[in-house]
Amino acid sequence: MSETARSRAAALPHLRRDGLAIGDSIPLPLTMAAIFHAPGDATGFNQYGRFSNPTWDAVEHMLAHLEDAPCVAFPSGMAAISAAFFAVLKAGDRILLPSDGYHTTRALADRFLEPLGIAHDVRPTSTFLDGGFEGYRLAFVETPANPGLDICDIAAVAEAAHSAGALLVVDNTTMTPFGQRPLDHGADIVVAADTKAPNGHSDVLFGHVASRNADIISAVTGWREVSGSIPGPFEAWLVHRGLETLDVRFDRMCSSAEVIARRLKGHRAVSGLRFPGLESDPSHNLARAQMERFGFLVSFELASEDKAEDFINNCDLMQAATSFGGVHTSAERRSKRGDAVPAGFVRLSVGCEPVEELWKAIEASLDKISG
Ligand SMILES: Cc1ncc(COP(=O)(O)O)c(C=O)c1O
Repeated sequence: MSETARSRAAALPHLRRDGLAIGDSIPLPLTMAAIFHAPGDATGFNQYGRFSNPTWDAVEHMLAHLEDAPCVAFPSGMAAISAAFFAVLKAGDRILLPSDGYHTTRALADRFLEPLGIAHDVRPTSTFLDGGFEGYRLAFVETPANPGLDICDIAAVAEAAHSAGALLVVDNTTMTPFGQRPLDHGADIVVAADTKAPNGHSDVLFGHVASRNADIISAVTGWREVSGSIPGPFEAWLVHRGLETLDVRFDRMCSSAEVIARRLKGHRAVSGLRFPGLESDPSHNLARAQMERFGFLVSFELASEDKAEDFINNCDLMQAATSFGGVHTSAERRSKRGDAVPAGFVRLSVGCEPVEELWKAIEASLDKISG
């Protein structure tokens, strides 16, 4: 971790310190309120729970500290992605999406943007720069892309998109701001599902939009207020608590993933393994240049659907679950969600368990399926 990332991590749990009065609770109080005391002209104060909430403010403050940019919180990652689209797009615009990223983003474009006159094309993440960005209002990348873990050069895409007059949105869900900060590489907007590692305990859905462009933040905030796509205060409180330990969890998960990926690659049952931290991975050099860490996701193939299911279901330290980034190691055979991957393709999310114990459990389950 770089020195600046370390100092960001150190300051994170103390952000409330300067605002504390004697006798205030040091942990964040939870404000559950639809209405606030608002006599006369209460402009500048909390008035109604769809407009503002002190618990949102606190979690947004933490996210803004990590992104070094104003942030707007949403009730899920998809709500954040929808907000970015609805805040900046209009009928007649054309957008470019990754063909190998999270499938629901493409579903949003297919089912809800196209009928409103916003067309889209798709392109693989690894060759996202090829073909340029002429005619696009917005380019959207996910790097590393979920689930194949290809990456693209954010700075190069930002430069090419900007010179064609397009905005660049980066879905940073797989990395978190401790692993990669796309705004520093020239992206206009970051969207993320804090459902994953930032909350980290798999008990909440949450998301945010970050941008250093004040007009974009104002449009996204306006979208939240008018659409009513607001996070619950309790969910915001849980994410605030999760963020206090993100640095520690993310560090453990990324370090363990480096060990597990290397050993998995050497196992006879495994093929096609992707992890940007391995020197042999096609993404490695670019990953070194633009990412602080290599993440906690590893993808690979097992010989068949049955073998992949058996591997996941018989591993004592692995949850069979969709999603990723939680304290529990989890895995999913992604073709069952409709991703264009082989039937035996597994996306593994390395959790916080001690790495040698975790490897023993993974190896035992792999040995069982390889006979
Ligand atoms: C890369 C990526 N972006 C966005 C999302 C959507 O997040 P949520 O489920 O919180 O809406 C996901 C969910 O898996 C994801 O993997």
